[in-house]
Amino acid sequence: MSQCRIAPSILSADFARLGEEVRDVIDAGADWIHFDVMDNHFVPNLTVGPLVLQAIRPHTKAPIDVHLMVEPVDAIVPAFAKAGADIITFHCEATRHIDRTLQLIRDHGCKSGLVFSPATPLSYLDHVMDKIDVILLMSVNPGFGGQSFIESSLDKIRAVRERCDRYFEETGRRIMIEVDGGIKPSNIAEVAKAGADTFVAGSAVFGAGDKAGYARVIADMRAQVEAID
Ligand code: DX5
Ligand code: ZN
Repeated sequence: MSQCRIAPSILSADFARLGEEVRDVIDAGADWIHFDVMDNHFVPNLTVGPLVLQAIRPHTKAPIDVHLMVEPVDAIVPAFAKAGADIITFHCEATRHIDRTLQLIRDHGCKSGLVFSPATPLSYLDHVMDKIDVILLMSVNPGFGGQSFIESSLDKIRAVRERCDRYFEETGRRIMIEVDGGIKPSNIAEVAKAGADTFVAGSAVFGAGDKAGYARVIADMRAQVEAID
C-alpha cells in the first residue's frame, strides 16, 4: 500500500486546549488535521467556524482539511480559505451547483473535495472528476464523533477506487480517497484494502488520552495499513 494519510478529527479533542492538541497530534505522527464544521441545519450538531480555524492555524504547518457539514456552502468558502484551510470538502446535497462550488474552492487556492454520506449515490461524481482533488466517503452519518463504522461503506470505497484508477489511467491525475467515521486500528486495514488512502479518526486517536497515547494509536494504524500486501 503506497499511501496512508492519517487525519485526526479535532471534534474529539479537548477544545479548551485546541492549539496544544493540534501540535501534539501532529508531533505524534498525524499527517493532516481534520476540521469538522457543523451548522445545526445540514446536520444536527453545532461546532466551529473560521475564527477557530484561524486560531489553530499558527500551531501547525500540516495541511488542515476542512469538512463542511453546512448548507449553503458558497458564502462561507472564502472565509475558511482566508482563515488558512488547505483542503475544503462539502456534501453533495449542501449546494445547488456542485461544479460551481468545487471551482470556487480552487479559485480560493484550496484543494477541493466532495463528500458522500452513506446513502448518497456516487453518480454525483459523473461530470466533475476533473474539479475534484479528494473524495470523502462518510462511513457514519455525519453529525457526531464516536459512531460505529457502517460496513456497507466498504463496497462504496471499492467502487470509488475503481473510478479513480480508471480516471488515473485516462488522465494521469490521482484523486485522493478519504474515509471518515468509526475508523480505528482494528478496522483500518479493511478500509485501506478497499481502496482508501486517507483515514480520518477522531475518537480512536483523541480517546487515547495524551500525546504518547496519540502516537501509539497512530503508529498502530499505520502498521495495520503497512502490513497489507
Ligand atoms: C462526523 C465527522 C467525523 C467524526 C469522526 O460527522 O465528520 O470527522 O468526527 O469521528 P470518529 O472517528 O470518532 O468516528
Ligand atoms: Zn469529518
